[in-house]
Amino acid sequence: MANPKSKFKTIIEPFRIKSVEPIYMTTEEERKKLIKKAHYNTFMLHSHHVLIDLLTDSGTSAMSSKQWAGIMVGDESYAGASSFDNLKNEVHDLTGYPYILPTHQGRAAERILYGYLGGKGKIFISNTHFDTTRANIEFTGAEAIDIPTPLAKKHDSPDHFKGNIDLKALEKLLVKSAKNVGAVILTVTNNSGGGQPVSLENARKVSKLCKKYKVLFIIDCCRIAENSYFIRHFEKGYENKSYRKIAQEMFALADGCAMSAKKDGMVNIGGFLALKNKSLADACTNLLIITEGFITYGGLAGRDMEAIAIGLREVFDDDYLTYRIRSTQYLGEHIRNMGVPVMYPIGAHAVYVDAAKLYPHIPSDQYPGQALVCELYIKGGIRAVEIGSVMFGKYDKNHKLIPAPMELVRLAIPRRVYTQSHIDYVIEVFSEILKDAPKMKGIKITHEPKFLRHFTAHFEPLK
Ligand code: F0G
Repeated sequence: MANPKSKFKTIIEPFRIKSVEPIYMTTEEERKKLIKKAHYNTFMLHSHHVLIDLLTDSGTSAMSSKQWAGIMVGDESYAGASSFDNLKNEVHDLTGYPYILPTHQGRAAERILYGYLGGKGKIFISNTHFDTTRANIEFTGAEAIDIPTPLAKKHDSPDHFKGNIDLKALEKLLVKSAKNVGAVILTVTNNSGGGQPVSLENARKVSKLCKKYKVLFIIDCCRIAENSYFIRHFEKGYENKSYRKIAQEMFALADGCAMSAKKDGMVNIGGFLALKNKSLADACTNLLIITEGFITYGGLAGRDMEAIAIGLREVFDDDYLTYRIRSTQYLGEHIRNMGVPVMYPIGAHAVYVDAAKLYPHIPSDQYPGQALVCELYIKGGIRAVEIGSVMFGKYDKNHKLIPAPMELVRLAIPRRVYTQSHIDYVIEVFSEILKDAPKMKGIKITHEPKFLRHFTAHFEPLK
């Protein structure tokens, strides 16, 4: 890993550790029993039995000493809390939007905004709706349409900005049905599309089209700082702009944003909605008061609002973002060089392993991704998540599986939590996984609920 400010190639974590949380060591023999007891579903494992937890980067960040200090000065007044002013000023400075509604997490902001804008006959268009975004839209009776750039399908090409929206498809949809469009939503970075970034050029063109067809343009900005890193390093003309300026430029193109602060807000809980338009903000504020809380705290304690305000500033720090993106790339590039098939280029918050390519002999209805998830746990105590036919597969009339488009396993990296030796350990575990890949067996589902089966389904390895 090269460090632009140093002649040494090692990038050190740009922080010292003041408080530590022990990791409980387990043996492979113990883990075999533990995963069996959890019905081969890593969501059912106790966190105490996980060595390296790469299940999600959401709400799993380590807060800084400044954020913890902010927790102590949180103003818990019901109305007019100074902590709300701090959050409001910070979000206003970052986004330029005047109306800020604090929510308990991202999906609460989505429920309020899309609950108001949605309804039967409405459509929403995105590079890719995240699951909760889609669910909140569909819950209102509206339709959520994904139109990622065709480049997104080229999983091993070196192209950047595979998170972009397909502009031609967007204009086609707008020509046909602009009056029914609830909003165009750019998810930056595109989590469900392999964590790939969105370029400013793409956002600018989306903005132009939305203005031309008089349609609302919303940014799902939960990883906006990480997205800015890619713009500065890979989009022409931004080499000398700060990450924060780049984000500000992107916000200026849209009408508002929904944020899960559990990602680039660097906190364990929280989110917000920020909007340009007063009448839309007024309608959403009514829903905020009914479903979350009063306008100066919404779904949050004063202390949480303090921590978000501080986290939103820290996340744009040059040294932090260099460390953040390079350490995810370090993991992705190392395992790719060893022969593990991954989505490429490596995104910011996670490495996505292509389990169908790693285990070409395991068919989709034997869930290669879930098999890999279990193998990662048994071999190394690493917890990851399957994003394939367990999560998105459906059945036809004859109960035959209609597989998901891809069999991925996501290794999401919590912010400021793990050090390089943890990541080196993960790389070493993958060398064992590779050795045993040809003889790996699939897995079957023995019990499943009707909805969101990946959380609670039971599995059994095939003999
Ligand atoms: N939008 C995106 C792009 C997300 O990745 C998430 C959450 C949300 C919205 C919803 O935010 O969880 O605060 O309600 N993603 C998590 C993940 C759960 O693991 O990727 P939330």
